[in-house]
Amino acid sequence: MRSVVTGVGGFLPAHVVSNDDIAQLVETSDEWIVERTGIRSRRRADEGQATSDLAVAAALEALTNAGRSPADVDLIIMATTTPDLTFPATAAIVQRKLGAPPGIAFDIQAVCSGFVYAMAVADNFMVRGLSRCALVIGAETMSRLLDWTDRGTCVLFGDGAGAVVLEPRAGQGTTADRGILGFSLRADGAKQDLLYVDGGPSTTGTVGKLRMQGNQVFRHAVVNISEAVLAAAETAGVTMPEVDWFIPHQANQRILEGVAKRLGIDGERVISTVAEHANTSAASIPLALATAMADGRIKPGQLLLLEAMGGGLTWGAVVLRL
Ligand code: UT7
Repeated sequence: MRSVVTGVGGFLPAHVVSNDDIAQLVETSDEWIVERTGIRSRRRADEGQATSDLAVAAALEALTNAGRSPADVDLIIMATTTPDLTFPATAAIVQRKLGAPPGIAFDIQAVCSGFVYAMAVADNFMVRGLSRCALVIGAETMSRLLDWTDRGTCVLFGDGAGAVVLEPRAGQGTTADRGILGFSLRADGAKQDLLYVDGGPSTTGTVGKLRMQGNQVFRHAVVNISEAVLAAAETAGVTMPEVDWFIPHQANQRILEGVAKRLGIDGERVISTVAEHANTSAASIPLALATAMADGRIKPGQLLLLEAMGGGLTWGAVVLRL
């Protein structure tokens, strides 16, 4: 049994924030941000627009594209580091807002790697026959976690959501099968200090702000991600030349080019949305996938390689045939 992506959707809040807008708040420039990150703009959720609202919009588009309705959904896994509330899980809020029937719904917290982790967890539910129609969603309002006086972080992140519908299909057990073919997940909690939020219910009683030693995270990114990608590819039984599209977490153009180069994947096979979306954490991969499917680049049947790295540190990769 394979977990097959049957629909993809994305949603971006309307409000565009340019690099020049941020240069009004902190000492930075469009030139610096573009050169060091590739980012030109990002979206910001309006006041009153919660993570679940972005998630619902992306989920509805994914369900429509799959020819499904909320009534079919029996599992919702939400990857987010910016939940609406400390509890309930934002997945349960999304279930309510979609009007989906009672089923399984929970959140996954692996920060920017959340979507990769969520796909791996969903795959395990599906191949065990525990779900017929799952929504895997990455949705974030990162703007709410940013310290808008810290130029080292506030220029990097954006808000958005992406979702996929997964359904089980019998495969032949070959790499020609549609569906998730392999994945690898990693975490190294000893590197917490490199990227974390300095608040939480059981410590400060506050939400906290994002803190990052950007150049240290950068140092680990290319090597860590490449290792996880090769491990996922080995599990799946595929090689890099077979990959049609590389869909990396959209943290920084320099990181995604560095990983692609190390893996021998040429730039024409890399999906990059970092210029307009910035880093939307767990939303970035499904949003990039939705963008490249909507513009016709990615087509059913193609072999996709997804990867991410984020707070924890966590990182991982998924290989799937669309
Ligand atoms: O998704 C989660 C994973 N996160 C990431 O993958 C982020 C990884 N890190 C990065 O993308 C990069 O490290 C950054 C874009 C955050 C920073 O780029 P960098 O080339 O590593 O720069 P740096 O941190 O080494 O800083 C170089 C200089 C510093 O000034 P001094 O100390 O050399 O005088 C910074 O203060 O750039 C300065 N700087 C800025 N200058 C203008 C830092 N942020 C800014 C800014 N505008 N926004």
